[in-house]
Amino acid sequence: MNKKNIMITVVTVGLLAGCGGGGGSSISGISDGGSTPDIGTKDPKFYSKEKLGESLFFDQNLSLNRKTSCATCHDPDHAFIDARFTKSAVDQTVFIHGAFSVGDDGSALGGRNTPTAAYALFNPTFGKNSKGVYVGGQFHDGRATTLQDQATRPPLDGAEMMMPDEQSVIERIEENPDYVASFKLLYGTDIFDDIDASYQAMGEAIAKFEKTDEFAPFDSKYDRFKQCREGGGRTSECLQKDNWTVDEDLGMSLFFSEANTNCATCHTINSKSEAPSKELFTNFEYENIGTPRNIAAMDTRAALGLQDANATFKGLGGFVNESAHLGKGKVPTLRNVAVTGPYMNNGVFKNLKTVLEFYDHIHGQGNHPINPETGLAWGHNDHNATINHAVLRTGLELDDRAIEALEAFLKTLTDKRYEHLIK
Ligand code: HEC
Ligand code: HEC
Repeated sequence: MNKKNIMITVVTVGLLAGCGGGGGSSISGISDGGSTPDIGTKDPKFYSKEKLGESLFFDQNLSLNRKTSCATCHDPDHAFIDARFTKSAVDQTVFIHGAFSVGDDGSALGGRNTPTAAYALFNPTFGKNSKGVYVGGQFHDGRATTLQDQATRPPLDGAEMMMPDEQSVIERIEENPDYVASFKLLYGTDIFDDIDASYQAMGEAIAKFEKTDEFAPFDSKYDRFKQCREGGGRTSECLQKDNWTVDEDLGMSLFFSEANTNCATCHTINSKSEAPSKELFTNFEYENIGTPRNIAAMDTRAALGLQDANATFKGLGGFVNESAHLGKGKVPTLRNVAVTGPYMNNGVFKNLKTVLEFYDHIHGQGNHPINPETGLAWGHNDHNATINHAVLRTGLELDDRAIEALEAFLKTLTDKRYEHLIK
């Protein structure tokens, strides 16, 4: 995070707001106020909801022991995932090889792998689309309808930031005069009179930050290649420009060709036959692809005496309470996937290549019968009835050449700032 830049932007936005610009959307029941509100003698530090949200996103004071912020588990230097395991030799048994995140007390353990918060702004509001299919929402099971809804949950989550209630979170916010002045400026002078309204305002500000370009730069090698072509570049010129390799090109063709693979059926929103720019690499729907239980994690949890309530991933079915959707997880974006392992809702696979070999296994031709990471058979999913075999069996088998090419292509989906993290 470049603090200098932040300061400069604050000043500029401040000037605009001072001119009566405002313009921010208001959340239900809270008016933006027409004239400049009286916010006391302290100058607000944050003149926009985005800047306020940014500060809240990085603020450990919103957790019980003041040790955990959103950024602890969504680290901007690591594509907004929890990189604590990667960064330091922390206790492996507790982190269970990076599959789960530790809570603010240093021992509580979540039951799902922390997804990237990058590009999450594109998840549509949870609901049924025109075809009656559930789409969007936040979390692996879609139980938070919007980013704002999502952002209000971690502070109160017993395995995350662990605060007892909304009021205690607001009291932490009120400890900081910069926050008090900024909340009053942006949400009205009486915002702190209503705990729930101020708590929702916190959620909205964080969500506004998560909607900034920092979370969606679209500047990966893939994007650069597409931009070159769309800017009128010839194929050969664009191939050369960023050293777009033969493997990457083959991987891209395989990925987008429904005749060859099934990837595009679930992992594209724009086109199933060609590679468009700004592709989000998910259709935002819910699917069960047969992800096996994370046995190693379950064993370690049991050995540590930790409850394993999440051994069975109920997914969307658990949230909407419909058995037809049990075990279905939201199709994740594949942007930055090369640097956001381990993979799947339960972090069962460490390497990207393993995910691809798993897809060939579930394709059903009997190739790749063994999980290369454990040397054992892949293991079982808890909800066989909802696995989408019809789609997973389409396309060709993934031989070693196809797997190599797909892996090379997936690596090109890495934002520029994380390219150095690719192994
Ligand atoms: C202790 C680790 C931890 C902390 C702290 C944390 N998160 Fe998360 N985050 C997770 C996990 C785990 C999930 C997935 C949970 C699930 O699916 O049930 C998640 C999911 C998300 C998602 C959904 C992404 C998607 O595509 O569905 C967003 C957005 C997000 N977190 C933002 C935040 C914000 C904002 C904060 C701070 C207010 C925060 N997180 C604090 C671990 C954490
Ligand atoms: C039927 C829909 C569907 C198809 C087809 C499909 N995927 Fe997926 N993909 C998913 C879902 C759902 C998940 C998340 C599974 C979980 O969390 O257990 C996923 C997860 C992944 C992941 C791990 C992402 C992460 O962050 O954990 C990768 C990589 C991936 N898919 C790549 C591919 C490739 C490559 C293909 C084609 C060979 C493909 N997928 C085909 C639905 C699909």
